[in-house]
Amino acid sequence: MIYAPNQFTPNREVREHAAVPTRVELCKTVQVAEGTAMGVETSGLTLAVFHIEGGFYVTDDACTHGPGSLSEGFIDGDVVECNFHNGQFDIKSGEVVSPPCMIPIKTYPTTVEGGAVFIDVD
Ligand code: FES
Repeated sequence: MIYAPNQFTPNREVREHAAVPTRVELCKTVQVAEGTAMGVETSGLTLAVFHIEGGFYVTDDACTHGPGSLSEGFIDGDVVECNFHNGQFDIKSGEVVSPPCMIPIKTYPTTVEGGAVFIDVD
C-alpha cells in the first residue's frame, strides 16, 4: 500500500516529550531569616531566595535593568529595591514596582519541604 506524505500510516508512532521540571534544592530554610534574602548559584542559575511574610520566594538574582543583585537589595514587605539604581520589583510576582526597571524579573515555582527550599526548573 502506498501512502501520501501527509496521510496516516498505521505503524507511525507519535511520541510527545513533555518537559518534565527538575526539582532543585537551593538551601535550608534556617539559612534565610525572615525579611532577608540570600543569593544562591546552582544548575547554571544565579538566584535570590527571599523569606518574606512567612513564605519563601525565588527570583533571578540579576536585576533586569543592570548589574544590581536583588539578593543584596533592600526588602520592604513584598518589594525588593535594587541595590544599584533603586528600581523595585514585587518579589512574589516579579512585576516592576518602580523604575528605572522596565522588565519584570523571572520568578520560580517554590516549595518548602523537610526544612529545605526547592524550585522547579525546566
Ligand atoms: Fe537594578 Fe538599575 S541595576 S535598578
